[in-house]
Amino acid sequence: MENFLTHLECSVCGDRHSPHELQTVCRSCGKSLLARYDLDSARKGFSRNRLRDLPPSLWKYAPLLPVEQQEHVVSLGEVTTPLVRLTGLEKELGLKELWVKDEAHLPTGSFKARGLSVAVSKAKELGVEKICIPSAGNAGGALAAYAARAGIESHIFVPEDTPVINVKECYAYGAHVELVRGTISDAAKVMNERKSEHADWFDVSTLKEPYRLEGKKTMGYELAEQFDWNLPDTILYPTGGGTGLIGMWKAFEEMEKLGWIGKKRPKMVSVQADGCAPVVKAFEQKKRVSEFWPNAATIASGLRVPKAFADHLILDAVYESGGTAVTASDEEIVLAIKVVAGKDGFFFCPEGAACVVALRKLVQKGFLKSDDVVLLFNTAAGNKYPEVITD
Ligand SMILES: Cc1ncc(COP(=O)(O)O)c(C=O)c1O
Repeated sequence: MENFLTHLECSVCGDRHSPHELQTVCRSCGKSLLARYDLDSARKGFSRNRLRDLPPSLWKYAPLLPVEQQEHVVSLGEVTTPLVRLTGLEKELGLKELWVKDEAHLPTGSFKARGLSVAVSKAKELGVEKICIPSAGNAGGALAAYAARAGIESHIFVPEDTPVINVKECYAYGAHVELVRGTISDAAKVMNERKSEHADWFDVSTLKEPYRLEGKKTMGYELAEQFDWNLPDTILYPTGGGTGLIGMWKAFEEMEKLGWIGKKRPKMVSVQADGCAPVVKAFEQKKRVSEFWPNAATIASGLRVPKAFADHLILDAVYESGGTAVTASDEEIVLAIKVVAGKDGFFFCPEGAACVVALRKLVQKGFLKSDDVVLLFNTAAGNKYPEVITD
């Protein structure tokens, strides 16, 4: 299979690591590793026109993904997710174009499928037999599914109040699940204790493993292609660990080097919940890293991440893009789900609905202009959260 992967590079100290050995974080400084490709050769050998004839799946970008042998690809049918125009809301807010990229169509009903399809494939390529993850819910479900398909044993650590469906899907796929009191940070602590007794568990925690990011970056490739290589003016993204936001930012940089897009970048807006907003707080204080958010609480379970491991990369992308960071309360989120479902027939998950709340705030503030093309992310199926809608 054609592939341009060359090495892994530390996002902070720049140290190089081999992609042919199992890697987690940088061995020199402990920060996130980023996959690097020979983009000069790819520029000559992989034209964007070729994409038109390939099946609509994230695997069409395989030459720019880390899996080197076709036989190691673990796939459950990762479709190209649709762009849906929210004409009702667009009219109400007076925006030129308002789109939502609907990640609900992916296997297991969330965008976590992208990262875990790629990470599990690479883990399989490197001979992993047991894998573990702390999760807010959807990543656990996705890991359980792809690990089952790959014949890898999975160990999933989630908060005890994770949405029921996320826990049940893990059980259905035959994963080992441990429910932990607290947030994903507490789940990670328990996982690390267990891991110290199981040296053969490979940890795929957000951005402590380099390849989930590569799966998530395909959101950037896909949307560029769907917008005919003219990126939207603004992207609103519900941010927990930040993989999607960092991944899209990486994709834009790669695509510019490939000659697929120009210099223009969307303004990246990081959206969080009132009850857990470490990135928003850091942005408001003009800081480069966030502080741990105590007593994190929100119905948008994917946003309940008190401190993202790669917060510096999230904030870098927001600052460099001229973007901003906004919060939504749980009440605003529930109302937004109902308003858009009633107006546009579109059922947001709570994390996606937080973007709708942020959108309104940014229109009111004048940050968004009437001739802007705006893209929101619906990162999971609204149907996965029946407990959120009470009447
Ligand atoms: C539905 C949903 N949206 C958003 C997020 C946050 O994603 P990221 O880690 O890419 O910031 C999560 C993470 O669990 C999620 O499940």
